[in-house]
Amino acid sequence: MTAGQIIIDTDPGQDDAVAILLALACPDALEVLGITCVAGNVPLELTTINARIICELADKGDVPVFAGCDRPLGRDLVTAEHVHGRSGLDGPTLPAPTMPLQDKHAVDFIIDTLRERPAKSVTLVPIGPLTNIATAFKNAPDIIEKVKEIVLMGGAHFAQGNVTPVAEFNIHVDPHAAEIVFGAGVPLVMMPLDVTHKALVTRARNAAIRAIGTPVGRAVAELTGFFERYNPDRYGEDGAPLHDPCTIAWLLKPDLFKGRRVNVVIETQSELTMGMTVTDWWGCTDRPPNATFIHDIDANGFFDLLIERLARL
Ligand code: RIB
Ligand code: CA
Repeated sequence: MTAGQIIIDTDPGQDDAVAILLALACPDALEVLGITCVAGNVPLELTTINARIICELADKGDVPVFAGCDRPLGRDLVTAEHVHGRSGLDGPTLPAPTMPLQDKHAVDFIIDTLRERPAKSVTLVPIGPLTNIATAFKNAPDIIEKVKEIVLMGGAHFAQGNVTPVAEFNIHVDPHAAEIVFGAGVPLVMMPLDVTHKALVTRARNAAIRAIGTPVGRAVAELTGFFERYNPDRYGEDGAPLHDPCTIAWLLKPDLFKGRRVNVVIETQSELTMGMTVTDWWGCTDRPPNATFIHDIDANGFFDLLIERLARL
């Protein structure tokens, strides 16, 4: 089977870092054509540094990394240093990157790649705000029909919000971009908080990651160890949710997940509910389904996969 070709669009972020590592650990199944960075958890300059740090941690300094949009389409940037630390990658001490940042803008890389490659051969994996993806669709509408699938981390329904009472961070930061992406008609799989909050790095799982015994294992244990300090206070749970790696795990082993085809519309009018993913779970409207809403996960199977693959790096 030929490896699936993907572009990871990201705002690293500890959980982004684990998603990138998981993808880079599986070259037999996934060919990472490039990593496009966006402003989100921390400003763009830091996300481009963090993405390269992670590539070099995986000894994959040949993966091209691109800088993208430094602010949302129509709102001021909101960042999340209180969750990810000032660097966006707090936890382990990792060396500054030596690999270069590509000269090409991330949006142009997305457009050029989709134009140059066969239709329906490239999957987009956005795990931060959707600004780069939406900008590419606005600048080059011809590429929309060429996208094979979008597998994104974002949104929430029964789980409610994590940055406002009703909105999840990635969608809230750039709701106008999300409106474009969810309305583009591309086959779309969403990994909302409803499923990612079931992928918790418990102490036992963190110990198993550390027990991999490699620099990657130790770094991931420290990344998730830092990330988890935030969760128990708010959610009273043991461990941090591994949001972004759920997208890569779906591509590797979709049977670990359960989902439902639903209609999702993005709130962009009211400040009170800005960025809410209004999910027609019970089919109350005549709006056609536009997303596969993933709501359940075999968490033990997910962590078994993660640990087994990270050990390859
Ligand atoms: O709400 C969780 C999402 O916001 C994750 O992608 C995390 O990295 C942050 O970007
Ligand atoms: Ca992210």
